[in-house]
Formats: sequence, structure tokens, C-alpha cells
Amino acid sequence: MSVRDKFAFNYREEDRLVRELKYNPYYQVISSGAGSSVEIDSREYLNLASNNYLGFSRNPEILARMKQTIDQYGASMCGTPVACGNVDLYAETAVAFSRFLGLEDTIIFPSCYQANAGIIGTLAKPGDIILVDRSSHASLLDGIRAAKCKVRPFKHNDVDHLLRLIKRTDGYDNIFVITESVFSTEGSIAPFDKIYRICQEFDAIPIVDDSHGIGVIGKNGGGILEEKGIENYEGIYTASTGKALGLAGGIVSSVSEVIMYLKYNSASLLYSTALPPVFLSATTKALEILSATGAELMQKLRANKAFLTSQLTELGYRTTEAEAPICSVIVGSNEKTFLMSKLLFEQSILTTPFIFPSVARDKGVIRMIPRVDLTQQQLECVIEAFRKIKAERPELFEQ
Ligand SMILES: Cc1ncc(COP(=O)(O)O)c(C=O)c1O
Repeated sequence: MSVRDKFAFNYREEDRLVRELKYNPYYQVISSGAGSSVEIDSREYLNLASNNYLGFSRNPEILARMKQTIDQYGASMCGTPVACGNVDLYAETAVAFSRFLGLEDTIIFPSCYQANAGIIGTLAKPGDIILVDRSSHASLLDGIRAAKCKVRPFKHNDVDHLLRLIKRTDGYDNIFVITESVFSTEGSIAPFDKIYRICQEFDAIPIVDDSHGIGVIGKNGGGILEEKGIENYEGIYTASTGKALGLAGGIVSSVSEVIMYLKYNSASLLYSTALPPVFLSATTKALEILSATGAELMQKLRANKAFLTSQLTELGYRTTEAEAPICSVIVGSNEKTFLMSKLLFEQSILTTPFIFPSVARDKGVIRMIPRVDLTQQQLECVIEAFRKIKAERPELFEQ
């Protein structure tokens, strides 16, 4: 069989739905940036799909800093940080991040996927055990697979289950407890204060991925540590700068010994071209802006979410019980979820459908990011579109 034949037919669920509904929400070709309106096939769409929570990907101050950096440093360092990619901006950004989080030291990866997938196997050894929230992101699971140690998943956001499991970890060298902060499909926030306390009690090492938390939760957008009032955190913290910070890159922050260890041992950092200087300087600027205006931005984000959720509930839609500023409408089967996304798209609204197996069977959701740059008029357009669907497509609401 030729290579072409081996891969030509892919009967994944998404492909089936795309063919049946003649609509593909994935890999949409966008001919503008990630603004609140985007252009697809010469038409304008409201963009509730992008994780550009704070509109930072179009922030003029950040863009000005990026242009200046490109003029000064060019496109890339064309080398790994350890060999020749350790531009002065790297240290500046690492310090800015550590200060922002109140942690000792930080390293910067080209992406958070690379950070998560790389560091866990570097830190955990065959004699260790990892307890992980069973709904954790693919990058954390990839990292865990690389660790080649015992793994026990705990029920999603279930501290009692974690406690029961951790009580049965005698004999292991190290215990790691891994979770995301904000589970972005549904918008739940991990009870990380309790998880951290359990880690302290059992001498376990916590790893939290705050990709959808930084710039999204906490009174000032400080993320999970601020949200849960955790000070002097002695664990490992990772985050993507590609979501609320509007950029690209992944960071790992911790106590200095951990960071130093990773700097010399993490293959996904050591053997990969450094994040380009332009994203480093932009990250520092984004943190500066977030530090100065975070409280205001968080209020707006929460207000947009509250508006969408309350209006949708009034219309009879069910949303997930999201504590984070994410609005996910529960639709049901894969077919219904895809169709809902298509009907919204036909009304010029771009959303993200999540279907089984990304979510539990028949628990498909339409996720919307209530980004701060949406106007009241745009929010009302979204509600109007849902109102129309409710009136015209009763079959979508039959059990
Ligand atoms: C929870 C979580 N962790 C990690 C990542 C990966 O981050 P990045 O896009 O920087 O690779 C994502 C993004 O999809 C995410 O949602």
C-alpha cells in the first residue's frame, strides 16, 4: 500500500461531520489577524473563537515594541538559548515574568506545548509517581508519557479523590501532582489552593499549567496563584503566552534550583531554536500593560461573560458552570454541536465546537471567549443569533 493510500482515508468523527454538514469549523482560512472581527472568504465574522481574551495581539503599544525589536534584532537568533540564542531580551523577560508571578526564576520555551511535553519527563524518573487531573491538556499528558513512571489520574477537579490516591504513594521517590488551572473547554477553575495544600502535606511537587489563567483570572489578571491567594509558591508553574498575552511562547517558573536543572537538562529547550527576540520584548510589554490595567481588564472580561451567560440562560440555553470568563453552551451530540456552530457561522459568528472525545459523549459544547474588545452591540448580535436558532431550529433542543 502506498503512503498516500495509508493516509488518504481518515474516518475520524470530524471528517464524517464535515462531509455530512458541508461545513468545516476547523482550519478556517482567516485573512486578517485575531481581532474581534475577522475576515474569512471576503466576509466579516465576529471572532469568539480566538483566545485573544484581552485583545493584546493588536495592542498598539505591544506592536510598536515588536516593530522596534525587529529593527534592532531581526527575525530570529537562529540558535538554541544554550548555544547562541540567549539574547539579552531573554533574561529581561525571564526576570519580568518571575516578578509578575512572584516566583524565583523563569525559562522561556518556543511554546507551552513544548514546555509541558519536555519538562515532565526531565523532572520525573521511573521511581516516581504522577497524580494527574484526568482532564489535563494533551501537552501535559505527552510530558507524563515521556516520564516512564507510575501514573494515576484523579477525577476531574476532585480533591477528595486526589487525597485518597496520594495516601497510597508510599515507597515512591517523588510524588508529582499535575493539573491545569483553567480547563478551557468548560471554564472550570482547579481547586489549586487545596491541591497545593495536599502537596505540602505529602511532600509532593505540584505542576500547574496556567495557560488559560494568566491574564484571565485573579483580581488583576495574575492567574491561578493570585486567584487562589497562593504566595511563595514552591512548585512548578507553566503557561502559554499565546493566549491572553496575545503572543506566542511558553514559560516555566519555579524556584531557582528547578529552573537551573531544566536549563541544562530539558531537551525540548536545549535542542530547539530560541523563541524569537520579537516575542520576548513583546511579552515584557504585555506584562507591563497587564500589571497596570489588569483589574480593569478583568472586570470587563467578567462583565462580558456575565452578559452572555445570563442572556443565553434567559433564552433557555444551558451553559457550563464556568467560574472563569469563558462561555460554553452545552449542546449535546456531535451532530447537534456541529450544526449549532454552522448556524452561528451562517450568522457571521465564529465559535469553537468541542465534540466527543474532546468532551464526554453527548456533552458537546460551543465555546465562546468573551474578549474585552467586544462592543455591547457585538455581544447583542451574538445573543440575537442564538435567539434566531432557538426559534427556527427546534430539533436542536429535543432531548
Ligand atoms: C492548557 C494548555 N496548555 C498548553 C497549551 C499549549 O500552549 P502553546 O500554544 O503555547 O503551545 C494550550 C494551548 O492549546 C493549553 O490550552
